[in-house]
Amino acid sequence: MKFLVIGSGGREHAIVWKLAQSKRIEKIYCVPGNAGIAKQAEIANIKVDDFESLAKFALDNKIDYTFVGPEVPLALGITDFFNSKGLKIFGPSKKGAMLEASKTFAKDFMKKYNVPTAEYKTFTDFASAEKFLKEEWEENKKVVVKADGLAAGKGVIMCQNRAEALTALKEIMQDKSFGSAGDKIIFEQWLEGQETSVLVFVDGKHFSIMPAAQDHKRVGDGDTGLNTGGMGAYAPAPVATKELLEKVKNEIMPNIINGLQKENIDYKGILYIGFMIDNGNPYVLEFNCRFGDPETQVILPLLETDLVDIVENVVNQTLDKINIKWSEKSAVCVVLASGGYPEKYEKNLLITGLNTVKEDEAVVFHAGTKKADDGNILTSGGRVLVITSLADDIKSAIDKVYNVIPKIKFDKMHYRKDIAQRALKWINR
Ligand code: AMP
Ligand code: GLY
Repeated sequence: MKFLVIGSGGREHAIVWKLAQSKRIEKIYCVPGNAGIAKQAEIANIKVDDFESLAKFALDNKIDYTFVGPEVPLALGITDFFNSKGLKIFGPSKKGAMLEASKTFAKDFMKKYNVPTAEYKTFTDFASAEKFLKEEWEENKKVVVKADGLAAGKGVIMCQNRAEALTALKEIMQDKSFGSAGDKIIFEQWLEGQETSVLVFVDGKHFSIMPAAQDHKRVGDGDTGLNTGGMGAYAPAPVATKELLEKVKNEIMPNIINGLQKENIDYKGILYIGFMIDNGNPYVLEFNCRFGDPETQVILPLLETDLVDIVENVVNQTLDKINIKWSEKSAVCVVLASGGYPEKYEKNLLITGLNTVKEDEAVVFHAGTKKADDGNILTSGGRVLVITSLADDIKSAIDKVYNVIPKIKFDKMHYRKDIAQRALKWINR
């Protein structure tokens, strides 16, 4: 089998790493990839939204399956384009990707198909949204304000009161801080509780749930500071109890599959469900139409089934024919970031110690790295490396990963010291 993986982050390195373990793999290509991916895949430099060139590349290299990492090509319709050329691809259609690319589409879908979610109201023009806040929203009531479209994770503004909501509304709909992503807006009930991400393989008819994970969005220890793409994760997340997962399996997912079929949505790939658990009740905060980053870096190391087999069964809509097995172990990953991230940071700093990490200690996934002409590995992004350790329990996995990290160095490297502490707190509550 020949695979083409699209993307360049730690998530895509984990996908390539897992595919490379398959006996069925002859060759993996990755576009555009990074320095770590280059060890297991042949890198080609094509833009991820240049579908003509990507499809030509897939045809010329006799690619069996293309695996799409990030949301942008999916939202732009890469799956429909590849299908029209007779190419097999793992990832939902453009309409399916709207579950992530349009929050109003996702909320209306949830409401229509009985998927529990926060109360909300949507607006397509500034004046009526402003009127609603001024006339119908209590002055001191909290509200979550969301831009409708893709905004690289920044389009959600948590507002403590009406005044803050009015400012957020102006930013999104008048100043157009997120461009056309702000053509529509949602005001949403602010939910309290614990968050967890449940990722699901979906073939349009059948589904299979992966171990639940938990991300750490804020840059600083104790969930302080700015939001990031994610500073670390762990799986399985104990907050996703057996009862919760049963509810996802027996109620929420069947309702979602029913909705996909009724709406004629071709969905073959991953559905990432972001939950808020309030008093044991799960509410869907968001859908993503792809693997999470860095959740993938803890989920895929726990996967015991051949990922090639899963991809094949998803694309052929035979997911019910395969029994997907997961390790009983726990995984913790920590993101090593550039100084200054998520704001301005330097690039091209030398990374040392990469070869000193032993295979049984941790897996080193590359995110923002590149290879210099002299063979050295340099930093080239905000999130540089993701280190994942596995152990029999979360506590041992935490100890293991934090023992490995000091071996790796680059100037101004920073990382959170408290990844997965929330899991321990939950277990010891
Ligand atoms: P989203 O992209 O919609 O998942 O929002 C990003 C983050 O904002 C989530 O991971 C939550 O931390 C927070 N968030 C979104 N919606 C709500 C809500 N209704 N109540 C509380 N927090 C929320
Ligand atoms: N880690 C969150 C995401 O991938 O959207």
